[in-house]
Amino acid sequence: MINLFLFLPYFMNLINRDRQHIWHPCSQMKDYDAFPPLVINKAYGSYIELKDGRRIIDAISSWWCKSLGHNHPRLKMALNAQLNKFEHVIFANSTYETIVQLSEKLGQLCPGLNKVFYASEGSSAVEIALKMSLHAQQLLGQNQRIQFTSLENGYHGETFMALGLSDLGLYRQAYEAHLIKPNFIKNIPYVHSSSNPIWNDCSAMWPDIEKQLEIQAENLAAIIVEPIVQGAGGMKLYSQDFLRRLSKWTKAHGIYLIADEIMTGLGRTGFALACQHAQIKPDFICLSKGLTSGWLPMSAVLTQSEIYNLFYDDYSSGKSFLHSHTYSGNALAAAVALECLNILEDEQIFKQVREKEIILKNLMYEVQNKTEKLINIRGIGAIIAADLLLKEKEKNQRIGYQIFQKALKMGAWLRPLGNTIYWLPPLNISLPTLKELCDITKFSILQILK
Ligand SMILES: Cc1ncc(COP(=O)(O)O)c(C=O)c1O
Repeated sequence: MINLFLFLPYFMNLINRDRQHIWHPCSQMKDYDAFPPLVINKAYGSYIELKDGRRIIDAISSWWCKSLGHNHPRLKMALNAQLNKFEHVIFANSTYETIVQLSEKLGQLCPGLNKVFYASEGSSAVEIALKMSLHAQQLLGQNQRIQFTSLENGYHGETFMALGLSDLGLYRQAYEAHLIKPNFIKNIPYVHSSSNPIWNDCSAMWPDIEKQLEIQAENLAAIIVEPIVQGAGGMKLYSQDFLRRLSKWTKAHGIYLIADEIMTGLGRTGFALACQHAQIKPDFICLSKGLTSGWLPMSAVLTQSEIYNLFYDDYSSGKSFLHSHTYSGNALAAAVALECLNILEDEQIFKQVREKEIILKNLMYEVQNKTEKLINIRGIGAIIAADLLLKEKEKNQRIGYQIFQKALKMGAWLRPLGNTIYWLPPLNISLPTLKELCDITKFSILQILK
């Protein structure tokens, strides 16, 4: 451990300079007065090392993206190899071996979805899928199909359309005047695990959902969902039968289904795609986050030849998809993404995740037993969540935030979603680190909720 006292002037100076110029994401900056940002030195595996020498478990994979942990040696080699060739070239009218290989591999994730369009952030992938679906409906002559809908508690990003299709009041409020107002599909058949009977059969709840869908059926261009797990809405898990029925319903009505796999994709739920739980083939799949294991910003939209072919014509026909982002097809990101897919295969990560599911669950139950402060434990793959059991007066005291601060001091980066505690660690996290995380979670809850 570094002598903090000697380094104090350095820390104070850096934090003051940060405070002068930086506006951090998803933060109330006044909170930083009492709780300044942590100064990072380096990161490796499931750990983040601070400048003062402390080691912190990255329990939420740095906003769900570090699926292979930090500083994976193979990813570093892939990045370095690409750096020695070229870093970025305009991706309109150009191509190169790595991105062709990457696209071939992505095209095999879901049979039939073999056309790949690249962007940088998850939100831009969502915007692209929405624009493509709206445009495709026009090309089919379905000019009345101009609306979108999504699920209650869903989250799809922060840009205007993505936020408009997100059911998170707090994030929407200030921008409501300019957001679309979908009829969010309600009464989703939520479950705590795949062993709940509703997971395989939600027939009792489907008629009500179908009624909600039928009302909007005529004008919908597409429905966007986070398949199986809704992340920002509270790590909520729902029935695979519901997703299967929804997919069947959209196909029967000529409405596109967009699977936002930005959090769930590439192993998080134990399969390459969460859609595989329901064995469905959506019309669009959005990927990001784990695509480069959080090394570089990259997102991708996968779609089918049938949709691609609607746009394929002479330039003069005016059917081109004229959407671009400067960093589309970035070579450094592509090199890392390709190696990521290789590692997922070579190290059989999806199988490892399916085995870890039960370990994560048992450890969260241990936290529940020791603290008696958790309810609604739920999870799948490498995601486990639970809600804090709070007294009425505690509900507005930002208890989740207090636990976050306490856990950071003890060595784990939890960052609860309100009063929902969850772990979404690197997929290859070790068992001893998970046990350490369990202990830290337990003690931080006990210290705040004595
Ligand atoms: C399901 C889902 N969609 C979209 C996004 C937005 O991605 P980004 O933050 O990269 O724009 C996120 C981010 O958390 C997400 O979880």
